[in-house]
Amino acid sequence: MQINISYGAAVQTGREAPEAGALAGIAKVASTCTLCRLAGGRKNVVFGMGNPAADLMFVGEGPGEQEDLQGLPFVGRSGQLLDRLVLEEMGLTRQDFYIANTVKCRPPGNRDPLPDEIEACWPYLEKQLELINPRVVVTLGNFATKSLLATAEGISRLRGRVYPYRGAQLVPTFHPSAALRGGGQVVAQIRADLVRAKEALGAAQPGGAQQS
Ligand code: URA
Repeated sequence: MQINISYGAAVQTGREAPEAGALAGIAKVASTCTLCRLAGGRKNVVFGMGNPAADLMFVGEGPGEQEDLQGLPFVGRSGQLLDRLVLEEMGLTRQDFYIANTVKCRPPGNRDPLPDEIEACWPYLEKQLELINPRVVVTLGNFATKSLLATAEGISRLRGRVYPYRGAQLVPTFHPSAALRGGGQVVAQIRADLVRAKEALGAAQPGGAQQS
């Protein structure tokens, strides 16, 4: 088993990353976690990656096949789409943000994570949020959004606005896999949400990317 946690330069904020050591400690604990049944089928724990000093953090659902194989979040098709949209709408790369998932181990056959799996894994995500202390959190899809906002409301109703979250701002959007399935309209909505996140970061360019 390997632990993958990589640190980009603090290009966005200039903040030092004293949290990097603490994060690495949590990643080490997670690497041998057996708190839920997902431990039995994983190849790697996918803890998170990116810049631990960033102001921006993305939270997804759970690792897929490629993520499980490589031990890194969002390295498959949906991650590639996310990277492209974030670059086009926000001008940012993985050096500029941190990205993690609601559950750190792959659910078998890419099924949805179960409530007790999300609950068992929550302390890892909570600690990541606490240490990274982002100013803006973008939740990708139903599971991340419902977990962080503690709501039963679905992503279609929740997206399109910004929510206060533990002193930060939370921008919910669709999971990029929904865009791979749903096409242009979903992509446009994700783009609009990324512009919201950029504005929340205080880096919006007047007259910039499209909204819908
Ligand atoms: N989908 C997710 O939610 N997370 C990943 O890391 C990959 C795909």
